[in-house]
Amino acid sequence: MTIPLTANETMPKAELLAEIERLRKEKNAVILGHYYQDPEIQDLADFVGDSLDLSRKAAATDADVIVFCGVRFMAEVAKILSPEKTVVLPDMDAGCSLEDSCPPEEFKKFREAHPEHLCLTYINCSADVKALSDIIVTSSNAEYILDQIPADQKVMMAPDRHLGAYLSKKTGREMVFWPGSCIVHERFSEKELIKLKAEHPDAPVTAHPECPAHILDHADHVGSTSSILKFVLDNPAEKFLVATEPGILHQMQKSAPHKTFIGAPGADGNCNCNQCPYMALNTLEKLYHCLNTLEPQIQVDEETRKKALAPLNKMLEMSPAQAPVPPKSGRAF
Ligand code: 13P
Ligand code: SF4
Repeated sequence: MTIPLTANETMPKAELLAEIERLRKEKNAVILGHYYQDPEIQDLADFVGDSLDLSRKAAATDADVIVFCGVRFMAEVAKILSPEKTVVLPDMDAGCSLEDSCPPEEFKKFREAHPEHLCLTYINCSADVKALSDIIVTSSNAEYILDQIPADQKVMMAPDRHLGAYLSKKTGREMVFWPGSCIVHERFSEKELIKLKAEHPDAPVTAHPECPAHILDHADHVGSTSSILKFVLDNPAEKFLVATEPGILHQMQKSAPHKTFIGAPGADGNCNCNQCPYMALNTLEKLYHCLNTLEPQIQVDEETRKKALAPLNKMLEMSPAQAPVPPKSGRAF
């Protein structure tokens, strides 16, 4: 199989993989991959994980180069935590609808309108928004961090209103929300999910908290991508309905090939519409190019970086101890 590298250049896939391997060693690079990446990228990453896992890896690595196979805000977090490293992202257009839904100038006004509120900001946002926040959270530590904040402290959450509403319902705590959302998780259809549940009554439903309440209400488990993976591996059931981006199914199938995993459907009954279009921009050939040229590089100006680092460090201090979630690596070492 040959892979197009440019309009006039192709390379056999085996050669491309060998080149990536050679460049990884030559440049002392670590490849970090999110669970929503293409299976072939997950399989060659040094480490696959959720946003929190990947932030911790980026903070701890002794590699000179971090190749971040995920979306831009994740790579930006790596640069904020490890400014001395070169951080590259295969495609700089790999954004996030949650980040887009929260422009920094508007967010600043929102904060100013609630001067008494402590601001817990979801990691899916720009460095500028992080710089205006008190504590960053991810879907795997938000509840744990919220529990450490005194009950009489007013709290606001941005930018994901569904994560905010889920936490508010679960903890009984009133909060002010920024009205942002993820276009991918909003596409699941409640009607189709009910039909699928009726067809598979023995299959527990697991969902990401970025889903709207009408989907989460049908879930047996709600959690981050790592937590979803752990749930399906630990649970004795043989079949699961999974309401998050379908990239995660790859790790499930690899770790538990005897189980059946069914992606929750979108409105047309087909779950392909739930693929994250931003994550899909990263490809094997772009990964090769960015390792080869060390471009495009993530840059964060030093003043913003320092301001964004404080709420990120707060998150790392307030997070639970790292839970070992299999698999630790995409590669077979
Ligand atoms: P996780 O932190 O659960 O990996 O979620 C990141 C994300 O962008 C989900 O859409
Ligand atoms: Fe952003 Fe949604 Fe894609 Fe996650 S799935 S990166 S929240 S657009």
